[in-house]
Amino acid sequence: MKKVSIKDVAKEADVSLTTVSQILNKKSNRFSEETVNKVIAAKERLGYFPNKNAQQLRGSQTKLIGVLLPNLTNPFFSTMMQTMDDHKPDDVDLFFLTTKEDKIEEGIMHLVERGMDGLIIAQMIKNPSRLNQYLLNHNIPYIVLDQSDDHGFTDIVKTNERNGGELAAAHLIDYGHTYISIIQPHNLTSNMKARTDGFIKYCEMHEIPSPIIIETPLNKEGGFAVIDDIIKSKSSAIFATNDEMAIGIMRGLADKGFHVPNDISVIGFDNIDIAKYLVPSLTTVAQPIKEIGEAALALITHKLNQNDAVLHNVALHNELIIRETTQHFKK
Ligand code: RIB
Repeated sequence: MKKVSIKDVAKEADVSLTTVSQILNKKSNRFSEETVNKVIAAKERLGYFPNKNAQQLRGSQTKLIGVLLPNLTNPFFSTMMQTMDDHKPDDVDLFFLTTKEDKIEEGIMHLVERGMDGLIIAQMIKNPSRLNQYLLNHNIPYIVLDQSDDHGFTDIVKTNERNGGELAAAHLIDYGHTYISIIQPHNLTSNMKARTDGFIKYCEMHEIPSPIIIETPLNKEGGFAVIDDIIKSKSSAIFATNDEMAIGIMRGLADKGFHVPNDISVIGFDNIDIAKYLVPSLTTVAQPIKEIGEAALALITHKLNQNDAVLHNVALHNELIIRETTQHFKK
């Protein structure tokens, strides 16, 4: 889809390019109120955005893709970014941005104002239809992944989260565990909801008592902070809904004199790069992190080259990786 240019605004308002440029550059006092209003109305109608920053940043042939992520510290996201960077075509530049949950829309608008040609959004959007309309108005193709949802009208790259949860449950149940806790974030994004639902439903199907739910932030500190709750729960196994939480939990259990896996088994989710180097190495459900990055980049570049009306839904598989933090239940 062609981006709205200053020429389009001039044509729509039936004035010259210079008139539009001067009015948009705050020199409106040289023109009649009627002309100024016509130009502003045409700009709004067409969703035109002056693109100064982007023009300064790149040659006209280079496409700029904005990538919105929850954070840059979790290796899940940094590995994904590195993969995108490693695979970007010569005519593409990437611009990475993180925002807090309540500032995501502002973050996206910031990226649009900075002149992005397309967006990859990996954060949950509160008002997806409003954002969709905003990006349509600005002719910015975008795709979503991970914590973001497709809401039935957006291109998406995702993994089979429900099956990932089932794989984790199946492994702990195979090892004879029946008293299990799930450590999860307070506000479940739709991918996390599918992940924990898969786990819980699998337990139900196998007549395992409902897992205890312990809520805490989705990071190492979050896992570490709930050690007393975990110990109180008397669970023999823990499903940490990401590897970072699992790392915090392992540290916290060690500090309290508990041995993983002799006293308590721990399974994580993601398979971040350090999972296999930990002592003990972390049993986890692996997400294909690099493939997610590559697929997202391929999809957005496809949309930029050919913004078709087809909705793409790329679904990737998760895999159980059994390492040293889980073992058979001992009475
Ligand atoms: O570790 C970050 C987690 O948040 C991952 O499990 C990923 O799927 C995301 O939602």
